[in-house]
Amino acid sequence: MSNVTQAATRQLDGPLLELTDVRTHFRTPRGVVRAVDGVSFSLDRGKALGIVGESGSGKTILSRSIMGLLPTGGTERSGSIKFAGREVGNLGRKEMRAIWGKEMAMIFQDPMTSLNPLMKIGQQIAEPLRIHLGMSRQDAMATARRLLQDVRIPEADRRLEQYPHELSGGMRQRVMIAIAMACGPTALFADEPTTALDVTVQAQILDLLGEQRRERNMSIVLVTHDLGVVAGHTDEIAVMYGGKLVEKAPTRRLFAAMKMPYTEALLASIPKMADPSHTRLNVIPGRPPDLVHPPKGCRFAPRCPYAAEKCIAEEPPLVVTPDDPLHSFACWYPVGSPEYIESRARIDAKKAEAA
Ligand SMILES: Nc1ncnc2c1ncn2[C@@H]1O[C@H](COP(=O)(O)OP(=O)(O)O)[C@@H](O)[C@H]1O
Ligand SMILES: [Mg+2]
Repeated sequence: MSNVTQAATRQLDGPLLELTDVRTHFRTPRGVVRAVDGVSFSLDRGKALGIVGESGSGKTILSRSIMGLLPTGGTERSGSIKFAGREVGNLGRKEMRAIWGKEMAMIFQDPMTSLNPLMKIGQQIAEPLRIHLGMSRQDAMATARRLLQDVRIPEADRRLEQYPHELSGGMRQRVMIAIAMACGPTALFADEPTTALDVTVQAQILDLLGEQRRERNMSIVLVTHDLGVVAGHTDEIAVMYGGKLVEKAPTRRLFAAMKMPYTEALLASIPKMADPSHTRLNVIPGRPPDLVHPPKGCRFAPRCPYAAEKCIAEEPPLVVTPDDPLHSFACWYPVGSPEYIESRARIDAKKAEAA
């Protein structure tokens, strides 16, 4: 596999991706929108990171900041973004173009808006191969055919000649993955890649991404509002709220011992598979914070059932749990703390009284 060797020769020591205090703010007539507000984390090669949070928490803007795909007017970006040891946060479009596809690739929620409706599937996969890897037309087409097979699209020869509208949603997303894989990227950013798909196809696409990751030793950043989506498909999970990282842990650890009441609320809002309508039984009450005037203390405090005075007054820093250096969270009274247990007992007693 040429792609595997390619990835291997690029191996360097240290994390593949390292973010330090990344901020992306937008100047708007209403004021400065603090879409990403001081995010730090690192991601190792070949690992899958899930970025989870409600709609509007800054997930897309964070991944676009890393990819260098932000709108230009009115955008203020600061902090450091290192990719394979190199600072990429301040590169211009021209320099980023050399990185896109080969180093970092991205797939979006709706393949219909990213695929060219007037271009045959084969051409769309072949194009980046010709541009980035300088392949001949023939070689690019042969590679496109192989990529379609890699993403388990049957009858590759026929598909190469088809247009996007002739394919189902799941097949179109497979094509997007094939395009993203084309130049053998070191990291893939997948932004809500399965949100538009039904549950069965969702699982197939996530399995496919995992397969490609292992085969190519590629890192994946999987962005989603649904904690259920990342549960079985990531090594680590980062939870975002109001432009900030509020909890990060290895996936298994997060589910076994989550610290943030927000993460707990997200978990409670996972659509139940058993429920035929997949409705969210527990929507988190209240609204996400205004990112122009965010709350002074913990940004989740106004919606947190366990919030105390300190939570409203003072912002909790992201700290490491004493028993696991890979688990960090930002909460004054985390799940399991005496204060949490006490307010939880109070809430439960009230509920029992009301019932
Ligand atoms: N170009 C922009 N100008 C102003 N605000 C923006 C812009 N793009 C995104 N935002 C705001 O930034 C916040 C984070 O957006 P986004 O990253 O898309 O959230 P998510 O992907 O988590 O749903 C939202 O409040 C959104 O309205
Ligand atoms: Mg988004």
